[in-house]
Amino acid sequence: MKITVFGCGYVGLTTAVGLAEMGNTVIGIDVDPQKVAMLKDGIVPFYEPGLQEMLLRQITEGRLSFYTDAKLGIESSEIVFSAVGTPPLKDHYADLSAVLNVAEQFKFYAEGEKVFINKSTVPIGTSDKILEIIQPKISLKNRFQVLSNPEFLREGTALKDFFEPDRIIIGTYGHDAGLRKLMKKLYRPMIERGVPLVFTDIRSAEVIKYASNAYLATRLSFVNELANFCETAGADIQSVRKGVGLDKRIGTHFFQPGIGFGGSCLPKDLNALIEMGKQSGFDFKVLDAAQKVNLQQPYRIIEAVKNVFPNLNGITFAIWGVAFKPGTDDLRDAPSLAIIHELLRQGAKLQVYDPVTIPKLRKIFEKKLSYSQDYYSPLQNASGLLILTEWEEFRNPDFGRMKSFMKEHYIFDGRNIFDREDVEKNDFSYYGIGSLSVQRKLKSKRSRVKLGL
Ligand code: UGA
Repeated sequence: MKITVFGCGYVGLTTAVGLAEMGNTVIGIDVDPQKVAMLKDGIVPFYEPGLQEMLLRQITEGRLSFYTDAKLGIESSEIVFSAVGTPPLKDHYADLSAVLNVAEQFKFYAEGEKVFINKSTVPIGTSDKILEIIQPKISLKNRFQVLSNPEFLREGTALKDFFEPDRIIIGTYGHDAGLRKLMKKLYRPMIERGVPLVFTDIRSAEVIKYASNAYLATRLSFVNELANFCETAGADIQSVRKGVGLDKRIGTHFFQPGIGFGGSCLPKDLNALIEMGKQSGFDFKVLDAAQKVNLQQPYRIIEAVKNVFPNLNGITFAIWGVAFKPGTDDLRDAPSLAIIHELLRQGAKLQVYDPVTIPKLRKIFEKKLSYSQDYYSPLQNASGLLILTEWEEFRNPDFGRMKSFMKEHYIFDGRNIFDREDVEKNDFSYYGIGSLSVQRKLKSKRSRVKLGL
């Protein structure tokens, strides 16, 4: 099939590369000439495991090409995807100008039979706006269809999620047998592997996207709040979440407490759904609470640090991991940034290591941080280590070596990657999210040290 994808960000580029890998001839269109030049050279402008290799292969095999020319993109293909950005505006509402601009260009250049599929996350009712733009050109000769096909891929595992989605949702305007056949053909490789293809009305498809991210966000705020409660109750969240999650209706997946959820999607989509509710006079109380919990969550680990070090001025800490999650160099809405800003504000000295975000961090923090190329260096003379992203490489460190570098031996594990007993056996004092008993121990141990006991 001949397919054009507008927008070469995480979603658009993964979609373009994935569809080419499935044997289609794909054109990627982006308004940014620099990005298009990089893509033509086979360079992915962001970090996403596996994408670079597949991109190169598809370009070399001639199934994938990139342009800035919208006319060429629309004229060449029977299916046109829009996967352009919908960044939040000041009022949290999504900026639709890029999506509507693709629709305008589609109206201008499309002839014959073509399908416009929206993949961008857009407020409910946007497909109607797209159709409104395109409608005047629809005729017996120009048979255009508008569909909504939300994307559920995650950064860091984008390709895997593209090829093995839990479901494919297609929102349509009414039942059209030809269109359903076309979608089944487009997604045949996935359908043959048992992935459900679900057809809905167009607004339901738009709601499904927001509802999925809002549910995930709420689930995380629930487990984070439960972890905070465990600290008060003297329980251990790791045992609690296992005990709770073994109920098949609940599950342990996507149920790990931490420093709060970040990234370009969960916080933005949660805000947007709350805002959409407000605009139609609907009060999303649960989502409001999920958002409030998440805004507070990054500061829990600072409280834990302050329980041990009441005055942070001049105290050196090492930081492992800053990306909003492993597998990405994305720092958008990363809770680690709020933590770093606050620690700096209180006068702490920070020595930071992250496997991929250092160039971006240098731009944000310039000389306010000290940057390291490996994860042992930032421990030099540090009084404590804060773990803010759970990169795999952090999971089995040489604790003896770590200790030899550090001035004092405190670990504040914002992602609960270590087993407390393991760490304590190595003579570190350990704080993990959701266990105050440890927190009390930390405090009393340092007071004992101070008193020379
Ligand atoms: C999210 C959704 O998971 C995707 O399904 C969706 O397609 C995507 O948004 C989008 O709308 O484009 P993503 O932003 O890549 O994907 O990241 P997630 O894996 O969902 O993680 C979000 C945040 O939750 C991260 O900060 C992560 O550290 C945190 N998290 C995740 C936890 O704190 N605990 C967990 O158990 C899981």
